[in-house]
Order: sequence, then structure tokens, then C-alpha cells
Amino acid sequence: MSEPTASGALIASTLATPTGPVPAGGAALGDVRVLADGAVAWEDGTITYVGRADGLPGSAGDPQVLRGCTVVPGFVDAHTHLPFVGWRADEFEARLAGKTYRDLHGEGGIYRSSRSLNAASDDEVLEFCRPLVREMADHGTIALELKTGYGLSVDAELRQARLARRLAEEAPQTCTVTLLACHAVPEGMERADWVRLACEELIPAAASMKLADAVDVYVEDIAFSLDDLAAVAEAAAVAGLPLRCHADQLGPSGATEAAVALGARSADHLNHVSARGVAALAAGGTVGVLLPTSTFVMRANPPPTRALVNAGTALAIASDFNPGTSPTLSMPEVVSTACTLYRLTPHEALTAATVNPAWVLGLARRSGTLEVGKRADILVLDADAFRQVPYRPGHNPVRRTYIDGRKVGER
Ligand code: NIG
Ligand code: FE
Repeated sequence: MSEPTASGALIASTLATPTGPVPAGGAALGDVRVLADGAVAWEDGTITYVGRADGLPGSAGDPQVLRGCTVVPGFVDAHTHLPFVGWRADEFEARLAGKTYRDLHGEGGIYRSSRSLNAASDDEVLEFCRPLVREMADHGTIALELKTGYGLSVDAELRQARLARRLAEEAPQTCTVTLLACHAVPEGMERADWVRLACEELIPAAASMKLADAVDVYVEDIAFSLDDLAAVAEAAAVAGLPLRCHADQLGPSGATEAAVALGARSADHLNHVSARGVAALAAGGTVGVLLPTSTFVMRANPPPTRALVNAGTALAIASDFNPGTSPTLSMPEVVSTACTLYRLTPHEALTAATVNPAWVLGLARRSGTLEVGKRADILVLDADAFRQVPYRPGHNPVRRTYIDGRKVGER
């Protein structure tokens, strides 16, 4: 599947990489180093040279010359809902005919994906997910988050986390696992009882079995409250796991500022974030993870993206890949939608799709930029500049994906 050698050198018409602080916010979000006739070389999977082609050391061997191409760091998708099994295209069609996401929540929505997951065998789930993870690599995703949240019982959540770990072992990418401990209140249960079970049993069990790298909670009128968020934050802290939060997606709840106050690693969605939430994000250490393809599919209200950037917030963009609100796994499509719909500049989108999400997943020291000493997670794009990626929605610009210096896909 992958090349036997993890060493190599490339020369491309353009090389572009974020350079700013990590995670980068405000003006630094768009700080991208762009080199014409840029070169990158790596040995045993580690980058040994980044610079102009005429400075490439002879020890790098014979470089491959890629005219008309741009080389960038690989994409990091810091918010996905894999593993899941089964699609929900009929719900998409029902929404087009006037139903809302809230209307479908029950027979459909998260509960339906939960029933599908719990009815499927481990092999069926893995067989469904494997080609999707592969397709992500072909679209330039070199690392991603996997989440639970479709189990909706202690045992089924732990099983989903175990399936995520198995998928991670097989995937060419680095995959982290987030325990979405509170996604929907299990049918037949009171919300408070589930939150107690999640905090007292699920989170400690997942942590002690090393099945999770972070804990997430969905704060919404159809899901969990600010008090539930605080309870989950405490359980996550006791377990030594970073906190993440689905915040202000369908409506305003104050979850963003609450997540920042609780020291969350990220607050995700932010479609209805308040001015107070924007200020809190800018002042705190929490990254705002924007999910533009989910906004597009849901025809939702976009977040106040320019206000977030101007306030200095560090932003990431991610796919939110799931069968309900965002059935796209393509990071190029996410970049394109982030520029067209949210008006990020192409360079802001590059930082938000690489080093900032790498920070959210705890991977920024090894991935997210082209720098000597980092892993050779590199994309070759069929584009003379990165702006070509958002400019061509629907096109996969990724010609090659290298992970740890090994080519995992080529077109
Ligand atoms: O991030 N909002 C909550 N969770 C997902 C959707 C899950 C689903 O519909 O299956 C989201 O949009
Ligand atoms: Fe999500």
C-alpha cells in the first residue's frame, strides 16, 4: 500500500506553509511562508530541508521536479464523527422539503445512527469506515479525529471507542479518539441520569482503558445544558483528558464562553456564538473549530468569522464528517467552503486546516507545518498556488499524499 522508502525530495513551483505561533490567531492566522521554486527533503520520515530549490543539499539525493504544483503540509481534520455506519440521505431530502433537523431528531438523526451502529457487527462497521478513511487520505487528510457519540449506553460508547482504536491501527493516518460522552440523551432515560452515568462510569472507564484522548459534549436545547457541560468538564479533568465542546450550533446557549472558562481545548461549530463568546475565545486558550460544510449542508447561519479573526481567536476548520449534518470528508471542500461561505482568505484557511487543528489534536509538534524536524506529512497539489484549492470546489487538487514520508496515495 505505501512506498517502502520514507526518504525523498521534491521541488515544486510553489511551497506554502504556515509559520506563525501555534495555534495561530488574529493576523498570524494568515502568516504563510510562500516560496517560488520551493523544495522539501526528508529522511526516515523526518523533514531535513525546507527552502529554495537552489539551496537543496546534495545529500538529499535526486529531487523530483513538479512543475505547476504546490507543496503544502497535509490537512488535519480535527472534527469528524467516524466511526459510523449507514447514510441518512432521506433525511437530507426531507429537510429540503421543509423538515428541520430538530423535527427529525428521534426517528432520525443521532438516534437513528445509534440504532444503525448498535445493530451492526464490528466487521460491518469497520468495512463501512475503511474506504472512507482511505478516501480522506486521497483528499490530503494526514491526521484526523474519530469520535464516539452514537453508542448511547456505557457499553456501546466503549465499543465505539474500541472500534475507533481499531480503525486507527489500520489507517495510514494518525487518528485520535474523542469520547463524545454526551451527544443525545439515551431513549427511556432522564438527562440527569445519563450525565451522572457518563461522568461516573463512562469517562473514567474510557480513560482507564486508554480508549480516549479527549472528551466532548453537545450543548444544545435538544441535547445537554451548561450545567451538564460543567459536570463533564470536571469528569474529564479528573480523568486527565482535554475537553471539547459542540457549542452554539443550532442556537445560542452561551456554551462557547462556558467552554473557554472551563479551559476547553476547543469550542466547535460557533454558528450562533455571542459577542461575549467571541471575546472569551480571543482572551482564552481555546481554539474555535469552524465546520463550514455542515453549515452549508444545513443552510445554517454562518458564524461571525471575521469578528472572530479580528478579535484574535485561533481558528481551525474541519469536516464534521457525519451522516446527518455533514456527509463530506473532503478537506479541500472544507477549505473551499470556509473561503466562499465564511470569507477566510486562502492562507487563513491553510493555517486553519493544518497546524491549528494539529494543535487541537495534540499533534502540533510533529505535524501541521513544513519545518525541519517535523514529520514528512506533505501534499502535492495540482495547483500553482494554494488559492486554487478554494477556487475549485468539487475538484480534488491532491495529487499525492505523503504521511511520515511515505506516499499513501497518488493520482
Ligand atoms: O456535529 N450536532 C451534533 N452532532 C453532529 C451531528 C450528528 C448527526 O446528526 O448524526 C454535528 O453536527
Ligand atoms: Fe460534530
